[in-house]
Amino acid sequence: MSPRHLVGLDLGSQTVRCAVGEAAPDRVRVLGLGEAPAAGVARGVVVDPAKASEAITQAVEAAERVSGVEIDQVVVGLGGAHVLCETRTAQVRILGRDGRVGPGDVHRALDQARGAPTAADREALHLIPRAYTLDGAAPVADPLGRTGLRLDLDARLVTAATRSTSALVDAVHAAGLAVEDVVALGLASAEGVLRDVELERGVAVIDCGATTTTVVVLASGAVVHTAALPVGGLHVTQDLAVGLRCERDEAEQLKCRYGTADPLAAAGNELVTVAGPGVIGPHEVARRELAAIIEPRAREIARLVAAELERADAGPLARIVLTGGACCLAGFPMVVHRLLELPVRVALPEGLGGLEAQLGQPRHAAVAGLLRWGSRQDLRRARHNRRSARPTGRLNRWFHDRF
Ligand SMILES: Nc1ncnc2c1ncn2[C@@H]1O[C@H](COP(=O)(O)OP(=O)(O)OP(=O)(O)O)[C@@H](O)[C@H]1O
Ligand SMILES: [Mg+2]
Repeated sequence: MSPRHLVGLDLGSQTVRCAVGEAAPDRVRVLGLGEAPAAGVARGVVVDPAKASEAITQAVEAAERVSGVEIDQVVVGLGGAHVLCETRTAQVRILGRDGRVGPGDVHRALDQARGAPTAADREALHLIPRAYTLDGAAPVADPLGRTGLRLDLDARLVTAATRSTSALVDAVHAAGLAVEDVVALGLASAEGVLRDVELERGVAVIDCGATTTTVVVLASGAVVHTAALPVGGLHVTQDLAVGLRCERDEAEQLKCRYGTADPLAAAGNELVTVAGPGVIGPHEVARRELAAIIEPRAREIARLVAAELERADAGPLARIVLTGGACCLAGFPMVVHRLLELPVRVALPEGLGGLEAQLGQPRHAAVAGLLRWGSRQDLRRARHNRRSARPTGRLNRWFHDRF
């Protein structure tokens, strides 16, 4: 049997990425990456499906050219601040033999947790079991085979605005593709860059993109919190464009070349030439001036992340894993480290086979995660439009392996 092709599609606010891979026994082998400038997407949400579908087509065609694979269905990432996480609980009587918890008991608990109504304009994306309790005893991650009368489940439900989810699916359909699954982008990024040892520890994965920063918190191998904050690298660029009185494209280039969020790193007298728009013309600014403009925004992003981590209430974290294009801003990891007082790792996708170098940057975290996610899906999954609330992927391996 020929290996199954996997396709991940990430509609970023700045770049649309389409990664193609194949499922090998122990890993995903990368076959190619196609990219196109984003269109029809604002703050991670599809606002113009026709324009977005054109950008998708461009990225998909580029991916087809490099991989030689004809693409007809994709695992697509869903972004935007409308993606939220809520707590769900369930309580069922244990009906398994000899009072032991069987798969049927667990399924009933999961169905109950999933089944509670969501707001009319929202829908469930992922149900993520966090812990089970038997007769009020200490929580366990895996209740199978344990004895008791009553099983309690503490879970998280990731939900999204129905309108935004439909707009994304419509844009993918308009590009002539079927949707194999829709995955919250924060979870995809975590799947893309987390190392196995980090999965078991308290860790937060922060993907800083152009307009969205996603936050995923894990403890004891389970996702305990997800959020998407409406801030990112584009805000830094806009601040620079205003502060330096130049066009956004120039501000973007200056940011990537000379920008830093750490004024100490730009303490000298190094000068940078700003071409500026016609009326102002070229002028010189000290590099530390760039840092003075960038630092407050970098600190604001870090502060919003810190507030979200507090809301997650996940207990002590061992590490912050930073990824996404905007984490490459010089000095930004240090700002995060100083504010959160935690070790920081800048992460890019690892452990993929084939042309993995094509996904070798932090900005590829989400699309790499979507590929991995696809490799773990049940092939019986309906080809499109059946968005399952089942937990999947490495993030809930203990669950996935057993059911
Ligand atoms: N070397 C660099 N220094 C500073 N910023 C960088 C660098 N490289 C990329 N960026 C920033 O990263 C951002 C793009 O990141 P990414 O490609 O992850 O975004 P996206 O996925 O398209 O958007 P989003 O996730 O917000 O929808 C841009 O704001 C860009 O300026
Ligand atoms: Mg992104």
